[in-house]
Amino acid sequence: MSYQKEYFEAVREAQSNAYAPYSHFKVGAYLRTKDGRSYYGANVENAAYPMAICAERSSLVAAISDGYRPGDFESITITVDAEEPSSPCGACRQVLKELCDDDMPVYMTNQEGKMIEMTVAELLPLGFSGKDLNE
Ligand code: THU
Repeated sequence: MSYQKEYFEAVREAQSNAYAPYSHFKVGAYLRTKDGRSYYGANVENAAYPMAICAERSSLVAAISDGYRPGDFESITITVDAEEPSSPCGACRQVLKELCDDDMPVYMTNQEGKMIEMTVAELLPLGFSGKDLNE
C-alpha cells in the first residue's frame, strides 16, 4: 500500500517516545508488516554515546522479537524534527537490507509532513547481503 496520512500520525506518536537526552534529536519509526501489524520505534540513547539505538532498528528488532521474519515488512516511515526529512544511518540501512525486501518503501518525513520516498535498494545500492556469503 502507498503512503497514507495515518502513517504520519503513527510515526509522530512513535517519535514522542524517543529517549534522546544527549542529542535532543528525536527520531520515530513506524514499521508495517504485510499482514497489517504495526511496530513503533524510537531512538534510545545512552550516556556512553555510541550505544544509542536508532528508531529504525528499534522497530525492526521489536517486530523480529515478536516472530516476524525477513520479507514480512511492507513499509517503514521515519520522522525527525528538522528542515528536511533525514534518512537512515548506514547501520540502519544495512539492517533494512537484511530484513526487508529491496523494493520496500522507506518514507522519510519531517514535522511539517514533508515526505521523501526511496526503496531499501536505493538507500543501499550494491548492498552486502547473505547472498554474498554463498560460494
Ligand atoms: N538516529 C536515528 O534514530 N536514526 C537514524 O537513522 C539517524 C540517527 C538517532 C541516533 C541518535 O540518538 C540521534 O538520532 C542523533 O544521531
